[in-house]
Amino acid sequence: MATQSANKLDLSNIWVFSTCSKVELQKIRKAFTEISTPSGRLLCEEGSPGEEFFVILEGTADVIRNGRKVNTLGPGQFFGELALLDHKPRSATIRSATEMTLLVLEQRQFTGLLAEIPGLTKKLLQAVAGRLRAADSKAFH
Ligand code: CMP
Repeated sequence: MATQSANKLDLSNIWVFSTCSKVELQKIRKAFTEISTPSGRLLCEEGSPGEEFFVILEGTADVIRNGRKVNTLGPGQFFGELALLDHKPRSATIRSATEMTLLVLEQRQFTGLLAEIPGLTKKLLQAVAGRLRAADSKAFH
């Protein structure tokens, strides 16, 4: 995977960062690394420990649980937060479906940014709540 700094990127258009101030966005930019990956690459493996949080800039990724594709994620969406929040194994496999450009954050920086930036924590909570509701409605219909 090719890597480069995310320093020059405008993150304010990405939903999860959209309530962050300029100073907060600068901190976020410094913490993330930008990577490029080909199609078919395993980014998270269900049942394995998780060490990174990902934000998709370009391309799409499949979400696979128990061998079944359950969702597709695209630009502006993120994944990998659950294992970093609860220190449990990855809840799903994520595989790139196209060439992708992603922002990656290590566990330590993820924890640090959440502690420093309440707006980011709130957005992540909203997203987790949305995923829980979606999973519930699939389970009961
Ligand atoms: P985590 O469990 O750390 O690693 C796999 C990630 O896939 C998980 O965090 C979520 O970010 C994401 N994920 C799991 N289930 C779904 C789903 N049904 N739809 C979208 N993303 C999901």
